[in-house]
Amino acid sequence: MRPANEIVTSEPVVESRLHKTFDVRKIRKDFPILNQKVDGKPLVYLDNAATSQKPQVVIDAMVKYYLEENSNIHRGVHYLSEKATQSYEAARDKIQKYINASQRQEIIFVRGTTEGVNLVASSYGRSNVKQGDEIIISAMEHHSNIVPWQILCEEKGAKLLIIPMNDAGELLLDEYEKLFNSRTKFIAVNHVSNALGTVNPIKQIITIAHQYGVPVLVDGAQAVPHMRVDVLDLDCDFYVFSGHKMFGPTGVGVLYGKKKFLDAMPPYHGGGDMIKYVTFEKTIYNDLPNKFEAGTPNIAGGVGLGATIDYLNKIDMTAVRAHEHELLEYATQALSSIKGLSIIGTAKEKASVISFVLEDVHPHDIGTILDDDGIAIRTGHHCAQPVMQRFGIPATARASFAMYNTKVEVDALVEGIYRVIEVLT
Ligand code: ALA
Repeated sequence: MRPANEIVTSEPVVESRLHKTFDVRKIRKDFPILNQKVDGKPLVYLDNAATSQKPQVVIDAMVKYYLEENSNIHRGVHYLSEKATQSYEAARDKIQKYINASQRQEIIFVRGTTEGVNLVASSYGRSNVKQGDEIIISAMEHHSNIVPWQILCEEKGAKLLIIPMNDAGELLLDEYEKLFNSRTKFIAVNHVSNALGTVNPIKQIITIAHQYGVPVLVDGAQAVPHMRVDVLDLDCDFYVFSGHKMFGPTGVGVLYGKKKFLDAMPPYHGGGDMIKYVTFEKTIYNDLPNKFEAGTPNIAGGVGLGATIDYLNKIDMTAVRAHEHELLEYATQALSSIKGLSIIGTAKEKASVISFVLEDVHPHDIGTILDDDGIAIRTGHHCAQPVMQRFGIPATARASFAMYNTKVEVDALVEGIYRVIEVLT
């Protein structure tokens, strides 16, 4: 049982020292889904690293698009097509400003992070990587930042090298630097690990690569929901992220690339909108960003992502980071005191993600029992099987917190785990 002297409050609280700049109750009101009950119990949504919830303004923007503007973009001379084009392209401008890219042509709409990485591996990779070349990724990558590079390496006869990590889940930068040689052609590393929560020293990783003249792609899927990213300041060559993890719609994401790279890269998909002129003999490709946006895109998704950026622009992301850090520390402390529970991923710099295992209990059973209490976490390998292999485990249970989560919800998670122990051991 849970020790009796621990107090569990029942009302969401304005989280202690942050109340002046950050009111979690106010934020929660923006997300209607959080109010629902699961089997009569309040939903405790702690699966934000898988996908985040959407604020009403984003839902409204997408409904408004379908109600009032729905049409194909870039194609029609009629009123609706022009309106839809304006909304979609306005979203591109908002994203450009939000991540501080220098030009709107550097913002390519994709389906999500996975497509962004595949685009770069296929287009940049195929034209720049040759037999015997080497690509460096890290030991804590999501499958979507492993497999596209493996496919490329297999096709080209190139080699994939891995930056190792320590037992806390921190990359070993000395070892990273040792991997460089004249054959090194590309680096692909995540900003924040989805499985461990580690926030990588990405600026340092990029600086080192640039000292060797090697470009870097950053998988920012797990970073953008937690912090403001400035691609100019990072000086990354490519940065990819998904709308749905940053309180936006599914099926839309962003590839940022420096124009000099994108200009030189061949198209990824062929089709409408990515061309200037087609004959059976030869096609002239369109300029950026259209060159990489073949076919009718997820227009409503793009518009929704634009509304997400408007929403995030009104939120103090420094206060969000502080709030989430407080949740992380509170949860880490509470979970660490549970007998038999081990946290996987104890890096000094972490986002609000806690992976853990419980002695003699399968993570799926933890997830199932917590679900009975209305608590949503993710269990499994988190699309990061090499991370599981590194720690010698098949799977973990993972609680991942977003800006709308509260300490009351952490308390519910801890209570739930005591119940798991009671039921299963
Ligand atoms: N990549 C997502 C996760 O970590 C699906 O859960």
